[in-house]
Amino acid sequence: MEKLKAVLFDAYGTLFDVYSVGLLAEQLFPGHGNALGVLWRDKQIEYTRLVTTSSDGAHYQPFWDLTRAGLRYACRRLGLALPAAAEERLMNQYRHLSAFPENREVLQALKAKGVTTGILSNGDPEMLGIAVRSAGLEGLLDHVLSVDGIRKYKTHPDAYALGPAATRLEARQIAFVSSNSWDALAATWYGYRTLWVNRSALPFEELGTQPTRTGTSLRDVLAFF
Ligand code: LAC
Repeated sequence: MEKLKAVLFDAYGTLFDVYSVGLLAEQLFPGHGNALGVLWRDKQIEYTRLVTTSSDGAHYQPFWDLTRAGLRYACRRLGLALPAAAEERLMNQYRHLSAFPENREVLQALKAKGVTTGILSNGDPEMLGIAVRSAGLEGLLDHVLSVDGIRKYKTHPDAYALGPAATRLEARQIAFVSSNSWDALAATWYGYRTLWVNRSALPFEELGTQPTRTGTSLRDVLAFF
């Protein structure tokens, strides 16, 4: 196997804990926090695919706006009234997600080995900037790549192409790390070496391709080096 020179991380769910939003959701809507968190996330990702595959991208909206749209849909679907103040609190929580605890030490270990590090995310640059700063990860990431500049969400190949373009490496020289199985799958199809971080003991996608590696925390990326 070719020596890997860089690691790119997905952001939401991989470096930043999306389901921590469920805690606030549970406070605001007792008994529905978990369902709301899951449906919100699924709808947000569904909307990224809808705007990428329809009408040559004419209906693109930044991830922040799709996140808000997904929240509104999820509440309506669950029959929950969403007052403006609750919407703002949940959106604000989404901006300041908790980071998984092993992040810093893993990024530090990669930097110590001279590995290039970065994020490759659907998030828009402002969201990513705030998340990176509030998690204290500035200085540990060489690249923070957002699909917003090309207005196409993962899993469009142009989105995955941002990694090789920014690092001046080939995809097969880069490890792509995601806790989202669909993202790990599509990155594998694109040509990256991949780590699927399966924190919740979920099944992988049933489409005939496996990630290069499967692990349970970001620490497992160190096995590539
Ligand atoms: C991202 C979403 C897919 O950060 O988690 O790109």
